[in-house]
Amino acid sequence: MYRFFIRPILFCFNPEMAHHVTMSILQFISKTVILKKLFQWLMVGKAHPKPVMIADLTFPNAVGLAAGFDKNASYLDAFALLGFGSIEVGTVTPLAQPGNSKPRLFRLIKDRALINRMGFNNEGAEAVAENLKKRKNKNIIIGGNIGKNKLTPNEHAVEDYIKCFNILYAVVDYFVVNVSSPNTPGLRDLQEKKPLTELLQTLMNLNQTKPVIKPIFLKIAPDLTEEQLKDIVEIIQTTSIHGIIATNTTTSRRALQTSVIHIDRIGAGGLSGEPLKQRSTEVIAFLRSRLPKTIAIIGVGGIHSVEDAEEKILAGANIVQVYTGLVYEGPSLIRRIVNRLARY
Ligand code: FNR
Repeated sequence: MYRFFIRPILFCFNPEMAHHVTMSILQFISKTVILKKLFQWLMVGKAHPKPVMIADLTFPNAVGLAAGFDKNASYLDAFALLGFGSIEVGTVTPLAQPGNSKPRLFRLIKDRALINRMGFNNEGAEAVAENLKKRKNKNIIIGGNIGKNKLTPNEHAVEDYIKCFNILYAVVDYFVVNVSSPNTPGLRDLQEKKPLTELLQTLMNLNQTKPVIKPIFLKIAPDLTEEQLKDIVEIIQTTSIHGIIATNTTTSRRALQTSVIHIDRIGAGGLSGEPLKQRSTEVIAFLRSRLPKTIAIIGVGGIHSVEDAEEKILAGANIVQVYTGLVYEGPSLIRRIVNRLARY
């Protein structure tokens, strides 16, 4: 139904507009009992979830929504309706910011991929915290993905992460430190050993001062070299953070079906979807072979089928997240993955 009827209509709109239209409709459906039941019957199907325990949190199932889809926590009920066990909101910055100029989101249909240079457009940490306070569905696990404002220089980045941590602390279940978006100039430099250790250690120390310790995950880019990945393993062990999210979007444009001319015309941005699948699985496998079982890995990147999700789990991920696969395959993908991963 989605692929043959709904997707062709949605793909007539520009991608950002299609995103907002779809989410508003879903949010409306999620508020009406009859429409909700009808939608679940037609589009989602029956789920047989199995809870997963990671970093001392019980996730209702093994499939989460990746960061960037619900940047401001505006559509939580809609995503809960689709069957996600967790939703990662953000990336949230201390102050609201508009992000890059439009157009900034592009479909690569032949590659079943997206390129985005959104640039952390969000309403700011205070507004997102307010939205989270209003949420009705308390079963779903909420991750708070935090970053720095574009205008904050890297020397002061730690202060931005501290602000976001403090503002969101009471309303999220876990934190994600995002230093891997390609769309904020200089952000990825924070993945280097010294600044990253400093940043994570500061947040872990802050965490210790709170009544309850909230798990902290680090989200990394797929473009790190083997040496950099080894550094990441060391940093995780020295700072004792709880886990890692692998991976964010890639700056690579290797082996795409879309013409070079079209790719050049799109310009800068992070690539997600099928072309990212293999690299993100490689990164997961690399990290899993070097990290103890107590460190959780959330696998994300190019999951478009149950087999893709299973591949991530077999490579060593504890749970998975989806973004681009939802755009191309539709809502039933989530239920299918939830049911398959219940075997593990
Ligand atoms: C993203 N992603 C992302 N990640 C993040 O940590 N913070 C963010 O704000 C965003 N924003 C964002 C916007 C858009 C339009 C896309 C497509 C992606 C990255 C996302 O969470 C995920 O890591 C990658 O997209 C890889 O997964 P998929 O899309 O291949 O399933």
